[in-house]
Amino acid sequence: MSNTERTFIMIKPDGVARGLVAEIISRFERRGFKLVAMKFMVADEALLQQHYGALADKPFFPGLVKFIGSGPVVPMVWEGKDVVKQGRAMLGETNPLASKPGTIRGDFGIDIGRNVVHGSDSVETAEREIGLWFDKGQLVDWTLPLAGSIYE
Ligand code: RTP
Ligand code: MG
Repeated sequence: MSNTERTFIMIKPDGVARGLVAEIISRFERRGFKLVAMKFMVADEALLQQHYGALADKPFFPGLVKFIGSGPVVPMVWEGKDVVKQGRAMLGETNPLASKPGTIRGDFGIDIGRNVVHGSDSVETAEREIGLWFDKGQLVDWTLPLAGSIYE
């Protein structure tokens, strides 16, 4: 399993509005994952249509794209061993009410359309999403100083 696996995590407009930016970043930092890229931006409709393209035929798609574009988001790339699966576990279930306490959605969410944060669902999806939201030059190449205390 590669220590350089990457995932795309994005704090949604509800997470930003509720002042959860630092809380969410902190959870990934404290776990030992490495931040590779981060932005603060309002996403345009074309980007969101691509990002959520797999859900285009769902009845909630127009409302989803409208809401995620309604305010600033914090798209990020995080790196580390098994980070895609671990990131999803840290987020919880899609529906916050089905999420365990201790997960981000289980601690901070109630309704499915206000579930605070997005996380890639596979390594392939992560690669696609990272490419959509970031240029290659925006992915920062650096060494986590404490890597030897996180990985054996
Ligand atoms: P995400 O992509 O945001 O990390 O969420 P997810 O994988 O857990 O869920 P996904 O199926 O990809 O759905 C994307 C987002 O659409 C909203 N949704 N609403 N009303 C509904 O039945 C419904 N289903 C999904 C959620 O906000 C979900 O995060
Ligand atoms: Mg998804």
